Amino acid sequence: MQTIGILTGGGDCPGLNPVIRAVVKKSHLEGWEVIGFRNGWKGLIENDRMLLDAKSVSGILPKGGTILGTSRTNPYKKEGGVEKVKQAFEANNLHALVAVGGEDTLGVASRLYSEGLRLVGVPKTIDNDLSCTDYTFGFDTALNIAMECIDRLHTTAESHNRVIVVEIMGRHAGWIALQAGLAGGADIILIPEFPIDLDEVCALIKKRHQRGKTFSIVAVAEGARLANQDVVQDVKLDEFGHVKLGGIGNVIGKCIEEKTGYETRVTVLGHIQRGGSPTAFDRILGTRFGVKAVELVKEGKFGEMVSLQGNAIVSVPLSKAVGALKLVPKEMYEMSKVFFG
Ligand code: F6P
Repeated sequence: MQTIGILTGGGDCPGLNPVIRAVVKKSHLEGWEVIGFRNGWKGLIENDRMLLDAKSVSGILPKGGTILGTSRTNPYKKEGGVEKVKQAFEANNLHALVAVGGEDTLGVASRLYSEGLRLVGVPKTIDNDLSCTDYTFGFDTALNIAMECIDRLHTTAESHNRVIVVEIMGRHAGWIALQAGLAGGADIILIPEFPIDLDEVCALIKKRHQRGKTFSIVAVAEGARLANQDVVQDVKLDEFGHVKLGGIGNVIGKCIEEKTGYETRVTVLGHIQRGGSPTAFDRILGTRFGVKAVELVKEGKFGEMVSLQGNAIVSVPLSKAVGALKLVPKEMYEMSKVFFG
Protein backbone atom coordinates (compact mmCIF):
# COMPACT_ATOMS: atom_id res chain seq x y z
CA MET A 1 0.00 0.00 0.00
CA GLN A 2 1.23 3.47 -0.89
CA THR A 3 1.13 6.33 1.60
CA ILE A 4 0.63 9.95 0.66
CA GLY A 5 0.80 12.97 2.93
CA ILE A 6 -1.14 16.22 2.93
CA LEU A 7 -0.67 19.56 4.70
CA THR A 8 -2.46 22.89 4.70
CA GLY A 9 -0.26 25.98 5.14
CA GLY A 10 -0.53 29.78 5.30
CA GLY A 11 -3.71 31.68 6.16
CA ASP A 12 -6.71 29.36 6.38
CA CYS A 13 -9.62 29.74 4.01
CA PRO A 14 -12.98 28.16 3.29
CA GLY A 15 -12.54 25.16 0.98
CA LEU A 16 -9.54 23.53 2.68
CA ASN A 17 -11.64 20.74 4.18
CA PRO A 18 -13.26 19.86 0.82
CA VAL A 19 -9.72 19.46 -0.61
CA ILE A 20 -8.64 17.21 2.28
CA ARG A 21 -11.81 15.11 1.92
CA ALA A 22 -11.33 14.76 -1.85
CA VAL A 23 -7.66 13.76 -1.50
CA VAL A 24 -8.59 11.13 1.10
CA LYS A 25 -11.57 9.71 -0.81
CA LYS A 26 -9.75 9.54 -4.14
CA SER A 27 -6.66 8.02 -2.50
CA HIS A 28 -8.73 5.36 -0.76
CA LEU A 29 -10.25 4.44 -4.13
CA GLU A 30 -6.70 3.91 -5.37
CA GLY A 31 -6.01 1.71 -2.35
CA TRP A 32 -3.64 4.24 -0.73
CA GLU A 33 -3.56 5.56 2.82
CA VAL A 34 -3.31 9.27 3.67
CA ILE A 35 -1.44 10.92 6.51
CA GLY A 36 -2.28 14.49 7.43
CA PHE A 37 0.47 16.72 8.83
CA ARG A 38 -0.68 19.28 11.39
CA ASN A 39 -0.17 23.03 11.08
CA GLY A 40 1.48 23.30 7.68
CA TRP A 41 5.21 22.71 7.28
CA LYS A 42 5.49 22.67 11.09
CA GLY A 43 3.85 19.24 11.05
CA LEU A 44 6.59 17.88 8.77
CA ILE A 45 9.36 19.47 10.82
CA GLU A 46 7.94 18.01 14.04
CA ASN A 47 6.57 14.84 12.43
CA ASP A 48 3.22 15.76 13.96
CA ARG A 49 0.72 13.71 12.01
CA MET A 50 -2.59 11.89 11.98
CA LEU A 51 -3.99 9.09 9.89
CA LEU A 52 -6.80 10.41 7.71
CA ASP A 53 -9.28 7.56 7.54
CA ALA A 54 -12.82 7.69 6.17
CA LYS A 55 -14.21 8.67 9.58
CA SER A 56 -11.88 11.64 9.99
CA VAL A 57 -13.15 13.30 6.80
CA SER A 58 -16.80 12.47 7.30
CA GLY A 59 -18.95 15.61 7.60
CA ILE A 60 -16.14 18.09 6.92
CA LEU A 61 -17.27 19.24 3.45
CA PRO A 62 -19.27 22.29 4.62
CA LYS A 63 -16.85 23.28 7.40
CA GLY A 64 -14.62 26.33 7.12
CA GLY A 65 -11.01 26.29 8.34
CA THR A 66 -8.93 23.13 8.16
CA ILE A 67 -9.11 19.98 10.27
CA LEU A 68 -5.32 19.79 9.96
CA GLY A 69 -4.64 23.25 11.32
CA THR A 70 -2.27 25.66 9.60
CA SER A 71 0.70 27.95 10.25
CA ARG A 72 3.07 30.24 8.44
CA THR A 73 6.11 28.07 9.26
CA ASN A 74 8.94 28.21 6.73
CA PRO A 75 11.31 25.19 6.90
CA TYR A 76 13.98 27.26 5.16
CA LYS A 77 13.97 29.66 8.13
CA LYS A 78 14.24 26.97 10.81
CA GLU A 79 17.49 25.42 11.99
CA GLY A 80 17.65 22.02 10.25
CA GLY A 81 14.08 22.54 8.99
CA VAL A 82 14.56 21.15 5.50
CA GLU A 83 16.44 18.10 6.81
CA LYS A 84 13.62 17.42 9.25
CA VAL A 85 11.06 17.62 6.43
CA LYS A 86 13.11 15.08 4.47
CA GLN A 87 13.36 12.83 7.55
CA ALA A 88 9.56 12.95 8.00
CA PHE A 89 9.18 11.88 4.36
CA GLU A 90 11.36 8.85 5.06
CA ALA A 91 10.00 8.04 8.50
CA ASN A 92 6.46 7.91 7.13
CA ASN A 93 7.49 6.16 3.93
CA LEU A 94 5.71 8.89 1.97
CA HIS A 95 5.30 8.25 -1.71
CA ALA A 96 4.31 11.89 -2.21
CA LEU A 97 3.07 14.97 -0.40
CA VAL A 98 0.16 17.21 -1.38
CA ALA A 99 0.86 20.78 -0.22
CA VAL A 100 -2.21 22.99 -0.08
CA GLY A 101 -1.38 26.67 0.20
CA GLY A 102 -0.69 30.04 -1.31
CA GLU A 103 2.48 31.65 -2.68
CA ASP A 104 4.51 30.97 0.50
CA THR A 105 3.54 27.33 1.15
CA LEU A 106 3.79 26.47 -2.53
CA GLY A 107 7.06 28.42 -2.85
CA VAL A 108 8.50 26.04 -0.23
CA ALA A 109 6.95 23.07 -2.07
CA SER A 110 8.58 24.19 -5.30
CA ARG A 111 12.02 24.47 -3.64
CA LEU A 112 11.67 21.09 -1.94
CA TYR A 113 10.68 19.52 -5.25
CA SER A 114 13.86 20.88 -6.81
CA GLU A 115 15.72 19.17 -3.95
CA GLY A 116 14.22 15.82 -4.94
CA LEU A 117 11.02 15.46 -2.90
CA ARG A 118 7.87 14.21 -4.64
CA LEU A 119 5.35 17.02 -4.22
CA VAL A 120 2.22 18.35 -5.85
CA GLY A 121 0.56 21.66 -5.03
CA VAL A 122 -3.02 22.84 -4.61
CA PRO A 123 -3.59 26.62 -4.87
CA LYS A 124 -5.38 28.22 -1.94
CA THR A 125 -5.87 31.84 -0.90
CA ILE A 126 -8.75 34.21 -0.43
CA ASP A 127 -6.58 36.84 -2.14
CA ASN A 128 -6.77 34.99 -5.51
CA ASP A 129 -3.29 36.25 -6.34
CA LEU A 130 -1.62 32.97 -7.38
CA SER A 131 -0.52 32.88 -11.00
CA CYS A 132 -1.40 30.18 -13.54
CA THR A 133 -4.89 29.49 -12.20
CA ASP A 134 -8.04 31.45 -12.99
CA TYR A 135 -9.18 31.11 -9.38
CA THR A 136 -7.89 29.85 -6.07
CA PHE A 137 -10.49 28.33 -3.76
CA GLY A 138 -11.49 30.51 -0.80
CA PHE A 139 -11.70 33.62 -2.94
CA ASP A 140 -15.35 33.16 -3.91
CA THR A 141 -16.43 32.76 -0.28
CA ALA A 142 -14.46 35.82 0.87
CA LEU A 143 -15.81 37.81 -2.06
CA ASN A 144 -19.40 36.97 -1.23
CA ILE A 145 -18.90 37.82 2.44
CA ALA A 146 -17.35 41.18 1.52
CA MET A 147 -20.14 41.89 -0.96
CA GLU A 148 -22.80 41.15 1.63
CA CYS A 149 -21.03 43.46 4.10
CA ILE A 150 -21.01 46.26 1.50
CA ASP A 151 -24.75 45.70 0.97
CA ARG A 152 -25.30 46.00 4.72
CA LEU A 153 -23.11 49.09 5.03
CA HIS A 154 -25.18 50.82 2.35
CA THR A 155 -28.33 50.89 4.47
CA THR A 156 -26.66 52.32 7.56
CA ALA A 157 -24.56 54.80 5.53
CA GLU A 158 -27.70 56.03 3.79
CA SER A 159 -29.69 56.36 7.02
CA HIS A 160 -26.97 58.48 8.63
CA ASN A 161 -25.79 60.42 5.57
CA ARG A 162 -22.28 59.14 6.15
CA VAL A 163 -19.24 58.12 4.21
CA ILE A 164 -18.28 54.57 5.16
CA VAL A 165 -14.82 53.27 4.37
CA VAL A 166 -14.70 49.47 4.33
CA GLU A 167 -11.29 47.82 4.64
CA ILE A 168 -11.12 44.51 2.82
CA MET A 169 -8.38 41.83 2.83
CA GLY A 170 -5.84 41.65 0.03
CA ARG A 171 -2.16 41.91 0.79
CA HIS A 172 -0.58 42.39 -2.62
CA ALA A 173 -3.59 42.16 -4.91
CA GLY A 174 -6.96 43.87 -4.78
CA TRP A 175 -9.13 41.10 -6.24
CA ILE A 176 -11.54 40.88 -3.28
CA ALA A 177 -11.90 44.66 -2.88
CA LEU A 178 -12.32 45.21 -6.60
CA GLN A 179 -14.86 42.49 -7.20
CA ALA A 180 -16.79 42.98 -3.94
CA GLY A 181 -16.79 46.71 -4.69
CA LEU A 182 -18.18 46.10 -8.16
CA ALA A 183 -20.73 43.53 -7.00
CA GLY A 184 -21.78 45.62 -4.00
CA GLY A 185 -21.84 48.97 -5.83
CA ALA A 186 -19.07 50.73 -3.89
CA ASP A 187 -18.60 54.33 -4.99
CA ILE A 188 -14.80 54.21 -4.93
CA ILE A 189 -12.46 51.21 -4.92
CA LEU A 190 -8.82 51.45 -3.86
CA ILE A 191 -6.41 48.54 -4.37
CA PRO A 192 -2.68 47.83 -3.88
CA GLU A 193 -1.90 47.76 -7.59
CA PHE A 194 -2.63 51.48 -8.08
CA PRO A 195 -1.55 54.32 -5.75
CA ILE A 196 -4.26 56.19 -3.85
CA ASP A 197 -4.82 59.82 -4.83
CA LEU A 198 -6.68 61.21 -1.80
CA ASP A 199 -7.48 64.53 -3.48
CA GLU A 200 -9.16 62.64 -6.30
CA VAL A 201 -11.06 60.44 -3.82
CA CYS A 202 -12.36 63.48 -1.94
CA ALA A 203 -13.25 65.32 -5.16
CA LEU A 204 -15.26 62.29 -6.33
CA ILE A 205 -17.12 62.09 -3.01
CA LYS A 206 -17.89 65.84 -3.00
CA LYS A 207 -19.16 65.70 -6.58
CA ARG A 208 -21.38 62.75 -5.72
CA HIS A 209 -22.85 64.54 -2.70
CA GLN A 210 -23.37 67.76 -4.71
CA ARG A 211 -25.38 65.62 -7.14
CA GLY A 212 -27.77 64.91 -4.29
CA LYS A 213 -26.39 61.64 -2.92
CA THR A 214 -26.14 61.75 0.85
CA PHE A 215 -23.76 58.88 1.48
CA SER A 216 -20.75 57.13 -0.07
CA ILE A 217 -19.09 53.75 0.27
CA VAL A 218 -15.32 53.51 -0.22
CA ALA A 219 -13.90 49.96 -0.54
CA VAL A 220 -10.19 49.81 0.23
CA ALA A 221 -7.90 46.78 0.15
CA GLU A 222 -5.70 46.50 3.25
CA GLY A 223 -2.61 46.48 1.04
CA ALA A 224 -3.55 49.70 -0.81
CA ARG A 225 -0.70 52.16 -0.58
CA LEU A 226 -0.57 55.84 0.37
CA ALA A 227 2.40 57.80 -0.95
CA ASN A 228 3.88 54.46 -1.99
CA GLN A 229 3.93 53.15 1.58
CA ASP A 230 2.18 50.24 3.29
CA VAL A 231 0.02 51.06 6.30
CA VAL A 232 0.89 48.41 8.88
CA GLN A 233 -0.19 47.19 12.32
CA ASP A 234 3.19 45.62 13.00
CA VAL A 235 6.44 46.02 11.09
CA LYS A 236 7.79 42.72 12.45
CA LEU A 237 8.28 40.29 9.57
CA ASP A 238 6.87 36.76 9.61
CA GLU A 239 8.93 33.77 8.35
CA PHE A 240 7.99 34.62 4.79
CA GLY A 241 8.97 38.27 5.12
CA HIS A 242 5.47 39.77 5.44
CA VAL A 243 4.50 42.63 7.74
CA LYS A 244 1.09 42.62 9.47
CA LEU A 245 -1.05 44.93 7.35
CA GLY A 246 -4.07 46.88 8.55
CA GLY A 247 -5.08 50.45 9.25
CA ILE A 248 -5.35 51.97 5.79
CA GLY A 249 -9.13 52.31 6.25
CA ASN A 250 -8.71 54.46 9.35
CA VAL A 251 -6.01 56.59 7.73
CA ILE A 252 -8.06 57.42 4.65
CA GLY A 253 -11.33 57.67 6.62
CA LYS A 254 -9.80 60.41 8.78
CA CYS A 255 -8.50 62.30 5.74
CA ILE A 256 -11.86 62.04 3.95
CA GLU A 257 -13.71 63.47 6.95
CA GLU A 258 -11.19 66.31 7.31
CA LYS A 259 -11.09 67.20 3.64
CA THR A 260 -14.78 66.84 2.75
CA GLY A 261 -16.44 67.70 6.05
CA TYR A 262 -18.72 64.66 5.69
CA GLU A 263 -19.11 62.43 8.71
CA THR A 264 -17.10 59.26 8.08
CA ARG A 265 -16.99 55.82 9.67
CA VAL A 266 -14.60 52.94 9.08
CA THR A 267 -15.36 49.21 9.10
CA VAL A 268 -12.55 46.64 8.98
CA LEU A 269 -13.85 43.27 7.77
CA GLY A 270 -10.72 41.37 8.79
CA HIS A 271 -10.81 37.64 9.39
CA ILE A 272 -14.61 37.47 9.05
CA GLN A 273 -13.77 37.14 5.34
CA ARG A 274 -11.84 33.92 5.96
CA GLY A 275 -14.30 32.33 8.36
CA GLY A 276 -17.31 30.10 8.03
CA SER A 277 -18.67 27.73 5.47
CA PRO A 278 -17.39 27.70 1.87
CA THR A 279 -19.68 28.65 -1.02
CA ALA A 280 -20.80 25.95 -3.47
CA PHE A 281 -18.18 27.26 -5.93
CA ASP A 282 -15.34 26.83 -3.41
CA ARG A 283 -16.57 23.39 -2.27
CA ILE A 284 -16.65 22.18 -5.86
CA LEU A 285 -13.35 23.80 -6.84
CA GLY A 286 -11.63 22.38 -3.75
CA THR A 287 -13.12 18.95 -4.48
CA ARG A 288 -11.98 19.00 -8.12
CA PHE A 289 -8.51 20.22 -7.10
CA GLY A 290 -8.18 17.44 -4.50
CA VAL A 291 -9.12 14.69 -6.95
CA LYS A 292 -6.76 16.10 -9.58
CA ALA A 293 -3.89 16.29 -7.07
CA VAL A 294 -4.20 12.54 -6.45
CA GLU A 295 -4.34 11.91 -10.20
CA LEU A 296 -1.08 13.84 -10.59
CA VAL A 297 0.52 11.65 -7.92
CA LYS A 298 -0.77 8.54 -9.72
CA GLU A 299 0.68 9.76 -13.02
CA GLY A 300 3.98 10.63 -11.34
CA LYS A 301 3.60 14.28 -12.34
CA PHE A 302 5.48 15.80 -9.42
CA GLY A 303 6.47 19.45 -9.12
CA GLU A 304 3.09 20.41 -10.58
CA MET A 305 0.23 22.50 -9.21
CA VAL A 306 -3.42 21.81 -10.03
CA SER A 307 -5.08 24.73 -11.73
CA LEU A 308 -8.44 25.96 -13.02
CA GLN A 309 -8.27 27.17 -16.59
CA GLY A 310 -11.64 28.07 -18.04
CA ASN A 311 -13.75 25.19 -16.78
CA ALA A 312 -10.97 22.61 -16.96
CA ILE A 313 -8.78 21.39 -14.14
CA VAL A 314 -5.27 21.07 -15.51
CA SER A 315 -1.77 21.21 -14.06
CA VAL A 316 1.10 23.69 -14.36
CA PRO A 317 4.68 23.62 -13.06
CA LEU A 318 4.84 24.79 -9.44
CA SER A 319 7.88 26.91 -10.26
CA LYS A 320 5.86 28.86 -12.84
CA ALA A 321 2.90 29.35 -10.49
CA VAL A 322 5.00 30.80 -7.68
CA GLY A 323 7.21 32.91 -9.94
CA ALA A 324 5.07 36.07 -9.90
CA LEU A 325 1.80 37.12 -8.33
CA LYS A 326 -1.41 37.53 -10.32
CA LEU A 327 -2.34 41.19 -9.91
CA VAL A 328 -5.42 43.11 -11.04
CA PRO A 329 -4.73 44.34 -14.58
CA LYS A 330 -4.98 48.03 -15.39
CA GLU A 331 -7.86 47.54 -17.88
CA MET A 332 -9.99 45.90 -15.21
CA TYR A 333 -9.36 48.67 -12.69
CA GLU A 334 -10.04 51.30 -15.35
CA MET A 335 -13.34 49.58 -16.14
CA SER A 336 -14.37 49.75 -12.47
CA LYS A 337 -13.89 53.54 -12.56
CA VAL A 338 -17.03 53.82 -14.72
CA PHE A 339 -18.89 53.33 -11.42
CA PHE A 340 -16.84 55.67 -9.24
CA GLY A 341 -18.47 58.74 -7.72
O1 F6P B 1 -3.15 35.79 2.47
C1 F6P B 1 -4.45 35.82 2.93
C2 F6P B 1 -4.63 36.90 3.95
O2 F6P B 1 -5.93 36.81 4.45
C3 F6P B 1 -4.32 38.32 3.48
O3 F6P B 1 -5.37 38.91 2.78
C4 F6P B 1 -4.00 39.00 4.78
O4 F6P B 1 -3.11 40.09 4.59
C5 F6P B 1 -3.32 37.95 5.57
O5 F6P B 1 -3.75 36.71 5.06
C6 F6P B 1 -3.65 38.02 7.05
O6 F6P B 1 -2.90 37.07 7.70
P1 F6P B 1 -3.07 36.64 9.22
O7 F6P B 1 -4.14 35.60 9.27
O8 F6P B 1 -1.74 36.08 9.57
O9 F6P B 1 -3.47 37.83 9.98
